[in-house]
Amino acid sequence: MPQPPDNLAKPATPNTTNNLVVFISGNGSNLAAILQTALAPAVRAVFSDNPNAAGLAIAQQHQKNSHVFSKTNYNSKMAWEADMHQTLQQYQPCLIALAGFMSILSGQFIQQQQHNIVNIHPSLLPDFKGRDTHQRVLNSGAKQHGCTVHWLSPAVDAGTIIAQSSLTVHATDTASTLQKRVQQLEHRLYPSVLKKLLQQGKP
Ligand code: GRF
Repeated sequence: MPQPPDNLAKPATPNTTNNLVVFISGNGSNLAAILQTALAPAVRAVFSDNPNAAGLAIAQQHQKNSHVFSKTNYNSKMAWEADMHQTLQQYQPCLIALAGFMSILSGQFIQQQQHNIVNIHPSLLPDFKGRDTHQRVLNSGAKQHGCTVHWLSPAVDAGTIIAQSSLTVHATDTASTLQKRVQQLEHRLYPSVLKKLLQQGKP
């Protein structure tokens, strides 16, 4: 498996804490993978845009603070982001890790967080941006697939790539088997990249 490079170039100076906040919308298997590593104490809170996200139970099992920000409770995206920004102040995260967070964050929000937001995407970017990546990989006949950790940018799935992990697509693969196999890669890659970024961000 390719390892993340030692120098994980990023566009802004990190904060001086090693606090991590994880944003989720769904199952939270990447959150669970992070919480199963030595990174667990660094995870100060879990934010969700979905009150029914299964990952919220994982946060609770690990006694992590969680906050739900349902967009339907706000008059505008700006108000939704402003509330998240305000709530983030109590955690002062060095890094925000999007882990299956399905909402698009604005350039202004990314800037407010000093560009300290990373995302994991289930494809070998820049190929297969967006949703339904596994089926689209199968349809394309691509032989290689995988996942990418990248800095968040206002353009979706287009930020600077930090690290990737790949697999060979088998003739017998379905979208479902690819999803499982790619997630196995994600669960190893994401914690290892986050660990390196946090180490790099310490004063
Ligand atoms: C992952 O496949 C991730 O790459 C994508 O959304 C999925 C989230 O899965 N962004 P989970 O909620 O971590 O199980």
